[in-house]
Amino acid sequence: MEIVVSSSFEPLLWDESPVLVMCGGRGSGKSEFAGRKLFVRGEKEAGHRFLVVRKIRRTCSDSVVFLIKRILDENGVSYDYNKTDHTIVAHGPAGPYEFVFVGLDDPEKIKSFTGMTSAWIEEATELTRDDFLKLDLCLREPGPSYRQIMLTFNPQEVEARWLKDAFFGAAPYPGARVHNSTIDDNPLKRLDPKTWAAYAGKLDALRDQDEALWKISRLGLWAARSGQIFSWDVADLPKDAKFDDVFLGGDFGYSVDPSGLVRIHRKADEFWLEELLYAKNLTNQDLSREMELLGVQRREPSYWDSAEPKSIEELRRLGWNAAPAQKGQDSVRAGIDFIKSKKVHIVTGSHNLKKEHDSYCWRKDRGGQPMSEPVAFDDHLMSAVRYGIFTRCARPQSKIWTMRAGV
Ligand SMILES: Nc1ncnc2c1ncn2[C@@H]1O[C@H](COP(=O)(O)OP(=O)(O)O)[C@@H](O)[C@H]1O
Ligand SMILES: [Mg+2]
Repeated sequence: MEIVVSSSFEPLLWDESPVLVMCGGRGSGKSEFAGRKLFVRGEKEAGHRFLVVRKIRRTCSDSVVFLIKRILDENGVSYDYNKTDHTIVAHGPAGPYEFVFVGLDDPEKIKSFTGMTSAWIEEATELTRDDFLKLDLCLREPGPSYRQIMLTFNPQEVEARWLKDAFFGAAPYPGARVHNSTIDDNPLKRLDPKTWAAYAGKLDALRDQDEALWKISRLGLWAARSGQIFSWDVADLPKDAKFDDVFLGGDFGYSVDPSGLVRIHRKADEFWLEELLYAKNLTNQDLSREMELLGVQRREPSYWDSAEPKSIEELRRLGWNAAPAQKGQDSVRAGIDFIKSKKVHIVTGSHNLKKEHDSYCWRKDRGGQPMSEPVAFDDHLMSAVRYGIFTRCARPQSKIWTMRAGV
């Protein structure tokens, strides 16, 4: 077994504290380390039943399940993945060990926790203090080795004040060890400097846009963000509703940024936003295939970032009814103002959209005053929504073009 971890995280590999708190900036390698530590323990200690928890079960499959499967694949370990039960049984040299993936939105599952030997809570800021205490109580049975709950999260003060109080205050939680990290601790800095630099550059750029977000994401320090732009509710898509219009908004991404696609349903001045896709590493061909799998019709109008005419043309050549979003001077602000004048709902289950919505804030100037543009970070689905609604629904200003001929 050969496993890469950075020198900053390495001591944690052998740490047996009952609670291991990994707080840090974006891309510091927290999630990757937590997955690798469970793998190392499973291989060495065997007989484990690891609980891997997120607030919402649906978000497990494209994050923690994907990560654990990748680590097992990379190490040539055979395993059985049960998609219905959300479990993976790995066959290690010392015997089998299991990962059980759970969302706290699945109360039946939580009731049936038995024999869990250690746990990892991913994106712990999504949980409440009560959620954590309940989990802590569940993990009381003796296992093959020490019992540990690992928590991984970014220090977002507004979302998770309880984490700051519990682990960073004057009376820290008994048995907790706290580790802080930033992207400088990510082994990619040496293994893949180009990807690392692209990532770090995006984080550095936040300094001039939103100091609190820069502190949280780049420096891994507790800070409170402010200036949220929208406050939409979450609602089911009305059944049997006759919508006046249905169309799509899309944003292209690749390695550092994800591609995003949202279906927008309009009835009069009311909109329902349904997240269809949020994924990295998709070429335009892959994107087209994903859209087919999602059941998107080729004739459905879709509006995309006009800064990518080549990608839009590629989608058109693949038969999609894709068009560039309206762009122009101040179109971002105008788009936001337009959407603010409407009633908007996020369709239930659109987790990434909800997350981006919650963190979509006005950019701040040097004095901390809000400016009239959003912070350009975690804004892929939000941009997609704007491309769609503003281009499709905002009445274009009538313009009279005059040409002076022959001068
Ligand atoms: N030990 C490692 N070996 C190889 N790649 C890593 C390692 N740690 C992190 N990475 C890569 O760096 C990126 C960010 O890591 P991640 O664990 O997702 O960060 P965080 O959870 O702190 O935001 C991921 O693409 C991940 O694959
Ligand atoms: Mg992470």
